[in-house]
Amino acid sequence: AGIVEVDLRPIRIGQNFTVKWREKPVFIRKRTPDQITSAKKDDIVAPSMREPATDAERCKRPEWLICIGVCTHLGCIPQPDAGNYGGYFCPCHGSHYDYAGRIRQGPAPKNLEVPPQGLEDPDKAHWE
Ligand code: FES
Repeated sequence: AGIVEVDLRPIRIGQNFTVKWREKPVFIRKRTPDQITSAKKDDIVAPSMREPATDAERCKRPEWLICIGVCTHLGCIPQPDAGNYGGYFCPCHGSHYDYAGRIRQGPAPKNLEVPPQGLEDPDKAHWE
């Protein structure tokens, strides 16, 4: 167990930063304005998604997406900035995730998992 704390300040806009947590990669993406707009625009189809979720439900702070970097199909590590929805693409069997880490296409059953996060400090990401 243990709390993870990541200094967000060095992460550039548009960068997908990866940290390791409990032997798993965690993606910390500083989303660009266009990526935020794209993800929020897709809220309109959120009810029909495989695992319905709005962008705001997944990204409490709009510019940050923090999710476990493990494909919910069979556990490969998705590639950032790839796939038909721009966010992540898992090359193992072709799962496409959007800029909120929501599964949009391919065999994965669920969205990339979002760990529960503390939001007190705007310069830090932390979860446990
Ligand atoms: Fe990602 Fe199968 S493990 S699509």
